Parts: sequence; C-alpha cells; structure tokens
Amino acid sequence: MKKVPFIIVLLFLSAGLFAQEMIIPIETNDNLMLLQTSREGLLNTVYFGKPLEGTEEYSNVAASYNFRDANGGIYNATYTTSGTWNLVEPALEMIQSDGNTSLELKYVSHKQEATSDNAVLTSILLEDAQYNFQVVLYYKAWTKENVIEQWTEIKHTQKEAVVLKKFASANLYFTNKEYYLTSFGNEWAKEMQRNEEKLTRGIKSIDTKLGTRAYLLQSPNFILSCDGKAAENTGTVVIGQLAWSSNFRYDFEVVANGNLRFLAGINPFASEYTLQPGETFKTPSLIYVVSHKGTGEASRNLHSWARDYRVLDGNGERLTLLNNWEATYFDFDENKLTALFKDAKELGVDLFLLDDGWFANKYPRNGDNAGLGDWQENKKKLPNGIGYLVEEATKEGVKFGIWIEPEMVNPKSELYENHPEWVIRQPERPEKYFRNQLVLDLANPEVQDFVFGIVDKLLDNNPELAFIKWDCNSVIYNAHSAYLETQKVPQTHIYIEYTKGLYSVMQRVRAKFPKIPIMMCSGGGGRGDYELFKYFTEFWPSDDTDPLERIYMQWNYSYFFPAIVTDCHVTDWGKQPLKYRVDVASMGKLGFDIVAGELNEKDKQFAQDAVKNYNSFKDLVWHGDMYRLVNPYENDIAALMYVNNDKSRAIVFNYLVNNRYMSTATTRPVVFAGLDANKKYRLKELNVYPGRRSWIDTEKVYSGDFLMKVGMNPNVSLRNTSVLIEATEVL
Ligand code: DGJ
Repeated sequence: MKKVPFIIVLLFLSAGLFAQEMIIPIETNDNLMLLQTSREGLLNTVYFGKPLEGTEEYSNVAASYNFRDANGGIYNATYTTSGTWNLVEPALEMIQSDGNTSLELKYVSHKQEATSDNAVLTSILLEDAQYNFQVVLYYKAWTKENVIEQWTEIKHTQKEAVVLKKFASANLYFTNKEYYLTSFGNEWAKEMQRNEEKLTRGIKSIDTKLGTRAYLLQSPNFILSCDGKAAENTGTVVIGQLAWSSNFRYDFEVVANGNLRFLAGINPFASEYTLQPGETFKTPSLIYVVSHKGTGEASRNLHSWARDYRVLDGNGERLTLLNNWEATYFDFDENKLTALFKDAKELGVDLFLLDDGWFANKYPRNGDNAGLGDWQENKKKLPNGIGYLVEEATKEGVKFGIWIEPEMVNPKSELYENHPEWVIRQPERPEKYFRNQLVLDLANPEVQDFVFGIVDKLLDNNPELAFIKWDCNSVIYNAHSAYLETQKVPQTHIYIEYTKGLYSVMQRVRAKFPKIPIMMCSGGGGRGDYELFKYFTEFWPSDDTDPLERIYMQWNYSYFFPAIVTDCHVTDWGKQPLKYRVDVASMGKLGFDIVAGELNEKDKQFAQDAVKNYNSFKDLVWHGDMYRLVNPYENDIAALMYVNNDKSRAIVFNYLVNNRYMSTATTRPVVFAGLDANKKYRLKELNVYPGRRSWIDTEKVYSGDFLMKVGMNPNVSLRNTSVLIEATEVL
C-alpha cells in the first residue's frame, strides 16, 4: 500500500535554524531518495533505495552509513560545488563576478507540491549568502511510474555577470556494493551498440561534442545497475537520459569509499556561460526511472510515463507508410511518384512519404551536394508542385507526407548566397563540410523565423499534408555564430543558444500545428531525446535497416522508448527474406521503403496480409506493455512481446539470430510474461508466408499460468526464421 507522501506542504526555514537537521524525501512507489541537511546547513544525499514503511524512521538512516570520508564528508553532497574544500568532480563550477572561484551552497528552504500531471514537485533553494548566488534543485517525481525528472535553476543578484563553467542538471549518490554501466554508441548505421562495464575507482565520463546530430557517436541513454550486471527481472537499475538535444556529459565517479557519484548535464566543453544578474539559467532535465526488479519493469514504467506525460500524442495513433528514399533516392519525377502512390495503396499503408530531393531550382537537389536550404519545389521534377501530389495521393486513397531538413544548408544554394551570415562557420577559416552541408545558426532569431517559415508555408499551402520527416544530417564544425558576435554574447554560448533556438522553433510549430505527426530523424540515431519528444511523435533509430542488425538496435532502444515512437522500415538492406524484414519492422511502428511494385506475387501477397495483420495488433505494440523475453545477446533467438491492458491479448515476436549448426534456437520454449495466470488463451501464428502451414494448433487452449511457466516453442528455424504468435483470451 502506498504511503501518503512525507511532506506535501510548504516549508520555509531561515538560514539560522540549521541545528535542526532537515530531511527531504523524494518518494515514488518503489523508491526513496533521502536528502538531509548537516548541522552546518549543507545538503547531502543519505539514501537511494527501496522505500521505508515508516517515515518516522527516515531520520535514522544517515547514522547507519558512514558518510565521513577523506574529503571531509562531501562525497555525498546533493549538489557539489567547487573552489572550497571539495576535491571531487563538481556539479557546479563557476567564477563569481569579483573573480573569486569559490562557491558554497547551503540549504535555505524547500517546498513540495502536487502537480496537475500526477507528479510531486520538490524544489529546494540553496544559497551562497556570501555572494548572493542561488541554486534551486528540482525533482519531479511520478509516483506510480517511479520516474524522476531532475533539473536545476541557477541565478544571482551580484552587480556584474558571473561565469558558469560547469552546471550539472543532477548529482546523484549511490551506496551500493558494485556498479555496472551500460552505455550505447558507435557510428552511422551502427548506432546504439551496447557496452556494459563495471565501474571501478575513478571517473568514467561519456559525452558528445557534436552539437547537432549530437548522438551520432554516443547516445545519452544509459542503464546503471547497482546489483551486478543489469538483469531483466531482478536487481536495482536506473535507466535514463539527459533530455537535451545537444552536447551532454556524464561523470560516473566511484570515490574512495566505494560509493558512486553520478553527475549529468550539458557538456561544459566550449560552453562557459556568462550569467547576467537577475538572469535564470535552467539546466535540461535528467530523466530516469528506478526499479528494484530489473530492466523489464523499469522500461515498462518509462514507456508508460513517456506515453502519458511526454511524447506528443503518446497514446494516439500513428500512420503506416511507404517512403521513397531507398526506392528512388534523388531520381524521381511526378510520374514516378504518382505510380508509387498506387504501390502504397496496394500495400495497404496509410501514407506515402516523399523524401529528400523535391526542392531547389537554381541548384537543383539532385544529390546531397546542392540545393539544401532552397525550399521551393523543383520545377523540372514537380512542375505542378506539392499541392498536386497531395491531391493525387488523396485520390488514390493514401495520405501524403514530406521530408525537410530545415536547419541545414548546402554552400551550393541560393540560401547560402543570400545569407552567409546565417551559417555557423569560422569567418577566417576554411569551411569544413559534413555531408556537403553546413548548419544554420538557430541562435539567430531571423534564422528561427526562416526555419519556422518552412514548415508554416508548407502546411499553410497544403493543409492536407499529413506527415513531416524532419531530418538533421550534419554535426556542427567550426562553431561560431555571427549573430552572437553582433549581440556581444560570448561564442561559448553557441551550443546552448542553438538548442534553445531549436526548442523555440518547435514550440511555434506546435502552437500553430498541434496535431501533424512529425518524425525526428537525424541521419538515423543522431537525435532521440525526451525534450524533443514534446514536439515529435516518433523517431528514426538508424539508417541501418538490415533486420538482423535492427533486432539488436530495436532491442537496445526498447529499454528507453515505447514502440509507438520507434519507426521501423522494411527495406532491401540485409540478406533476409521479406517475411523476416516485415516481422522485425512490425515490432515498432511499421513502414516500407522498397519498390513495392517489383515484389513477386507471393511476397506481394505476404506484404499485403502482413499490413492487415499489423493493423489488427498495432494497438498492442503501440499502447501495450512490453516484455523482453529472450535476449539476442545471450541466445540464438530474440523474443519479446506486447500485452494489452486487460491482458486479454498479446503478440509475441520471435526471431532467429544465429543459424549455426550448433544453434540452440529450438531447444527451449519461449516463456511468456505479462499474461493473467488465471486466464485461458488460444494461440495463432500470424504473418504465415503464403504456401506454408503453421504448426500451431489454434484450437488448443492454454492457461496463462502454463504459458508463463512452460511457454511455447516458436520453432524458429532456417526455413522459418521469424514467428509471430498472437495469444487471445478464451472467454
Ligand atoms: C538521412 C535519413 O536518415 C534518410 O532516411 C534519408 O531521409 C536521407 N537523410 C535523405 O537525405
């Protein structure tokens, strides 16, 4: 039974009352973080673990640990400063307006209040009275989902500006015995590869410095396991990410006493921030879920939080689609496209998505080296404009969507010729291109207007447009803003101002067009964060659509994101048969990027049936609970399933991932999860390839108890490398 939160009242203490130690609990149903002031008024973290039954015992916790350390007891500071007697990695490092580099924060007051979105918001005011410098720590806790969003606001009332050198969003402290960190990264088309390692004494930092397309090499998603390696159904895990669409840095510091300090925030790299008197600097949010029952429960809670409280239209519907990128690349015209509308219709998907290459005239976009920035229809390819395409698609009975990459410019473009001052580049150095392009300076309000204007014009002119794919293919090289120079703002603000500019554009887009689905794409995997998900309905995980690779990638993304936001397209990547490709894409939001008209008869029949089947179970994938059943990193198959809310229906995806002769793929049944043990179910294989008969007996009835203890062998084999099983309650 859930306790009544310890404090849901306003509490104010003056700086003189420190003799009485103050305890501030950050509570969720399954976790408790206790913050406690010292006699001197410093705020420390004294507990992070399972909740205690009696709130009256909170005050006994600190004494059970030995927080005296070689550094004068500062390891567990709730927000570690620098320049005084702290010698560990600081959360906040700064220079006061008089040049002094010291900062000491003491507790002043705090309040806890219920929010309208079912969370409890705790805010704690800390102050360096010596310097009129304040920090407010925020903890927004969703009790049911065990999700915490943590950020910080920094301000001061000194006469001159101060300089912030490092400004973490969160500074957590763990007192477990050993820690394993799983982080994710790699490069284009190999995104989200996992690396699990034991954290040992010292600092393990992970970061990115790429600016835009920030996660290309390193993702901000992390799993911290506090009881040995991360396990699906046991152990304490923290799963999260910094919701910031640019440079981040995490420091995991195992200190001398074996405890772990975790600092997360904007990467201080090239980002010293000059904070004016009266200005408030708000850090991005660290969002994390805590579970003491492993990664499975943590993910399900995070998914349900994301759908309910974060992702735009998180509980809504999505559109299946046919994309033309890999079918045509830049080589298309009106006739080719209208023929593809027919393919989309025949396939049975909801929408046709026109990708890159539809725009620019002086420097036509016939390759990735020209035209980016000139957002007028290319007259040769599309003489009758977008409006005509929208009409033709509608006539065919499919919706129409379009690709844009509004933050970027090719030097070979009219935009570049007309507005060189809008481009991020070092004025005195040679330009350096990433995919033949440069990044526009979103710190500049005129550029923000321009970027907003692209969407605004497209949607104003074509109100029937039903989908946007918003791409972002370049990192920031030569970070320099002509605009910031004119404003006399230091260049070290560029990454932050760019990102704020991006959010401001997205806010304007959503204020005017609240509903249209927008895919967040960044050449695949370069973006995907919970701040942008306030404005985007889905994201593109990777250009790598080889289904075998996608199983691992989608598996890894599934720790962090619900399937409804994870776009998975069937393409010609990989050597696997169409069935395998479709079955893999069906575990997320299904799309196609193939020349559907060229499929042979059997494949075409299969694809059409598979889209119908997807429509019949997509509600489970998009809105149900996900259970990872068999881990492809440890087995010869991968299996995961989605179950609806009342546990009356489930869909189980099984894939062969290793076809060695020694394979154990069929040795053991796949044990289901998330069903009702007392319910009875019938099983049916879906997406059976034409001409094959399923071995599953649809008349047989199984108890949930049986399926969750013994399970069912999907019998994946080289002849049938993927098997989808639907379980339906027998009433
Ligand atoms: C990168 C994206 O990931 C692809 O899907 C495609 O849209 C290209 N950009 C187009 O340039």
